Amino acid sequence: MRRQYKRALITGATSGIGEAFADILPASTDLILTGRNAEKLGALQERLAVGGRAIEIIETDLRSPTDRKKLISRSESLETDLFVNNAGLGFFSHFTETPADDEAAMVDVNVVAVHELTHALLPGMIERAKQTGERAGLIIVSSVIGHLPMPYFATYAATKAFDLALAEGLAEELSREPVDILALCPGATATDFQARAGAPNDMFDRAESSISVARKAMRALGRRRVLVSQLPMRFGLSYNTAIHRIASSGAHAYFKRLMRHGPKE
Ligand SMILES: NC(=O)c1ccc[n+]([C@@H]2O[C@H](COP(=O)([O-])OP(=O)(O)OC[C@H]3O[C@@H](n4cnc5c(N)ncnc54)[C@H](OP(=O)(O)O)[C@@H]3O)[C@@H](O)[C@H]2O)c1
Repeated sequence: MRRQYKRALITGATSGIGEAFADILPASTDLILTGRNAEKLGALQERLAVGGRAIEIIETDLRSPTDRKKLISRSESLETDLFVNNAGLGFFSHFTETPADDEAAMVDVNVVAVHELTHALLPGMIERAKQTGERAGLIIVSSVIGHLPMPYFATYAATKAFDLALAEGLAEELSREPVDILALCPGATATDFQARAGAPNDMFDRAESSISVARKAMRALGRRRVLVSQLPMRFGLSYNTAIHRIASSGAHAYFKRLMRHGPKE
């Protein structure tokens, strides 16, 4: 871990990767934990508030503009210096048959909330880092799927492409500021995500543990801008490598085709 943070805000801390971040951060880091599941938030507070550690729990539906504003205001007043933008969801389904509200939920939580919270909290984080001389940290959880379009996960993949592009763009734009920015792109990870998404089992074959993903992310923060986290596949070539290869050659192939055919008259 590069450094210790004073106070971390973790969205989607009630389960999976978000909960793993809450578990691995050192006791010297106070926490602001959010999610909709109040019972789980209470249990987390009880488990993690040891030795005078401050654990603030904020029940938040990230689809609600009012809840987002409340969360921003409280996080700003508590002077967050690490922000793990993790909450997210996906539905593995036919686009034309997915209820409009499920489609909107993916966009609201994975895109609108990520954008709004990041835009509202980053300036204060940077300002405080300048004053204290301690770098701030921002992790935006995208996905390996953020690298490529994907049928049946079309909307989810598009939202995760947004998260990836936002994090990479900000990392470059703010490279002279005292903030480390990481796009975390987990591959299959053993959480509630698969069941909630209705995704097929073989997609989650050899899933990595959420603790392993969170640990790798904290090691990568400040050292790189994108972390693709995935266990190697049995046939040797890791899914990550394959995705990266397809992503880069895919763009190249698109460009070649476009250049050959030109725009339609
Ligand atoms: N698991 C994977 O294989 C995988 C792979 C790549 C990327 N990811 C990404 O990793 C992140 C964490 O997912 P996970 O795998 O840990 O899944 P998870 O176990 O289902 O956890 C998702 C978290 O997001 C929160 N959340 C969902 N909708 C919300 C809403 N409307 N308002 C507030 N919080 C909401 C949930 O909290 P409540 O239920 O309490 O609201 C929960 O804490 C997501 O961004 C996901 O896209 C996961």
